[in-house]
Amino acid sequence: MRPAAAPPPEAAAADIFVVRDLSVDFEIQSGFLGLGGHQTLRAVQDVSITFRRGACFAIVGESGSGKTTLARTLMGLVRPTSGRVEFDRVSVGDLDGRAVRRMRRRVQMVMQDPRAAMDPRQRVASILREALVVHGIGRDPADRRRRIEAVIQQVGLAPMHLDRYANQLSGGQRQRVAIARAIIVEPQALILDEPVSALDVSIQAQIVNLLVELQERLGLTYVLITHDLSLVGHFADEVAVMYLGRVVEQGPTRDVVAAPAHPYTESLLSVVASEDPGEEKARVVTLLEGSIPSPLAQPPGCAFHTRCPHARRLAATLAPDRVVAVDGRAVPRVCATTLPPAHRFAGPGPRSASCHFPLHPLA
Ligand SMILES: Nc1ncnc2c1ncn2[C@@H]1O[C@H](COP(=O)(O)OP(=O)(O)OP(=O)(O)O)[C@@H](O)[C@H]1O
Ligand code: SF4
Ligand SMILES: [Mg+2]
Repeated sequence: MRPAAAPPPEAAAADIFVVRDLSVDFEIQSGFLGLGGHQTLRAVQDVSITFRRGACFAIVGESGSGKTTLARTLMGLVRPTSGRVEFDRVSVGDLDGRAVRRMRRRVQMVMQDPRAAMDPRQRVASILREALVVHGIGRDPADRRRRIEAVIQQVGLAPMHLDRYANQLSGGQRQRVAIARAIIVEPQALILDEPVSALDVSIQAQIVNLLVELQERLGLTYVLITHDLSLVGHFADEVAVMYLGRVVEQGPTRDVVAAPAHPYTESLLSVVASEDPGEEKARVVTLLEGSIPSPLAQPPGCAFHTRCPHARRLAATLAPDRVVAVDGRAVPRVCATTLPPAHRFAGPGPRSASCHFPLHPLA
């Protein structure tokens, strides 16, 4: 096994995580009581992403698109079936036990549901102390207490909250404690898995503002997982849009949001663009008909062809021999049969989209 020493800080690379050609399969039992045998579920497929240090990179997609699996692979919690994940230029798969513990301190995760993420009968001070003890941080109890009192104020709570039990806190307060527990161990990166989607809308903006402020103050790298593209527009520098385990579009957030190149991104964005809640619902149904297919029954060709409004529009303009019927509707034959390559686009920053008929001309 390769030694996994961390590079010295002065040599820290501009890229914190590098993911190359990553695929993750899960073997699952099918049928009643697993009597149907084993099936392979491909949760992440051929994903390549570079995460820049100090930036916020968002991963967006509907439920089941593989966002959490990708994040867990970054942390070494899930092993790649093929491909490679590097943290600070060292392959996560090559880390030995001590190096994994060191990495877990440097990369912390904040989950969607703070209620599930902590013991309701534990006091806040004890939750935070436990994080310090697990990672061997703090010279003595007084030093640990000083760190706990400092962090509770950093996340906008008062020292009196330290004596509360987790179940005495509101959802927003609990998420602040979860963030405090993550940053108290002085990580380099936070993986934020739907950090505000379980909270009341009125509280969401407060937590987003706190996260933005902490990133600036502590120079953190964020990996933000969300199904909500409006959140991405607020604070992500770059975004990858996932569909059925694949990245279908990625690039600088402002470019992707201003002019999506992939029809799936356009569909997700059109949901965000509408401000009226009633209209929003109607547009979701129009633009993203049906639900995401099961990863166990992935459509051939471009996996989005069963739902793609752009493909349907195009089919009406094509010769009959270039069109096939899918669920009674015409789509371009190439969409239903051939996996689209990732086209790169001109302009600053890496920008790509995997579509046979991207919404922008190629570079
Ligand atoms: N440990 C596991 N064993 C078997 N299948 C899994 C496992 N973890 C995830 N999956 C499957 O992999 C696919 C991707 O799941 P994942 O949780 O990564 O999606 P997600 O984009 O995070 O979805 P959500 O928005 O609902 O959290 C899903 O079909 C899921 O059922
Ligand atoms: S390849 Fe075809 S089906 Fe897939 S997103 Fe592009 S137009 Fe739609
Ligand atoms: Mg998830």
